[in-house]
Amino acid sequence: MYDVVQSIAREAGEIALRHFGRSPEGFVESKGHLDLVTEADRAVEQFIVGELAAAFPADGIFGEEGSARSGTSGRTWVVDPIDGTFNFVRGGDQWAVSIGLFANDRPAYGVTYAPVRNDLLAGGGDQAATLNGIRLKALPPFAPGIGLVGVGFHPVIPISDRLRALNIIFSDVKVDIRASGAATISLFEVATGLTDGYIGSGISSWDVMAMVAILETIGVHCNIDWKATDLASKLQFICGTPGFLRALPRDLLQPL
Ligand code: IPD
Repeated sequence: MYDVVQSIAREAGEIALRHFGRSPEGFVESKGHLDLVTEADRAVEQFIVGELAAAFPADGIFGEEGSARSGTSGRTWVVDPIDGTFNFVRGGDQWAVSIGLFANDRPAYGVTYAPVRNDLLAGGGDQAATLNGIRLKALPPFAPGIGLVGVGFHPVIPISDRLRALNIIFSDVKVDIRASGAATISLFEVATGLTDGYIGSGISSWDVMAMVAILETIGVHCNIDWKATDLASKLQFICGTPGFLRALPRDLLQPL
């Protein structure tokens, strides 16, 4: 199963790359304020869904661009064909294919592939997290003097809520921020030790399912209560290394 999903993610990334750099006219549509979808998102999702359905016919599938198949196994593949569509449209490298397995009410396995960088992260459950086949290094302890947290706010999140979260980060936690524009990439930065955590508001299950499974194998905890979460709902959460989470004020662990 693991090799199959990794090769589906790689091939999906190659399909996305064939569309990368196209002119936005006739290719990009708006799903809402600052929320984009492209022909590439749809083509890549169609490919991934076809491959997963052929490989794992008993499993359900839930995708950002509308795919919803119920399965009989109790397992669901949660798919974001291009996380970071905005960056994809603008020509940046911070976007990735994300395929996560949700089983027993938990993120159980994940593969994310950032095609421009040619970086593939995989892991979850009893599968150690690897980057391009090499096991991820142990994360550094939290050092407040070089503390960094990724942030991601969906455009529907009220500005007052975003400012409240930023105020807590700057005034109480006293670390700096990074915003990649793709939850997968921000969580990738946590997994590789470039940041200590990530605060997401208005983020969808397909943006994070794969990375949460990967992060759990290296001791990064995310405060998402999956048992109480509908896969279609918008999530508010914090992920971080144990040292970073310990440094947070208690009220930040409440909904933002
Ligand atoms: C978006 C990215 C972004 C987050 C948005 C998501 P998409 O996903 O993950 O970081 O802030 O909420 O919608 O639309 O590019 O797949």
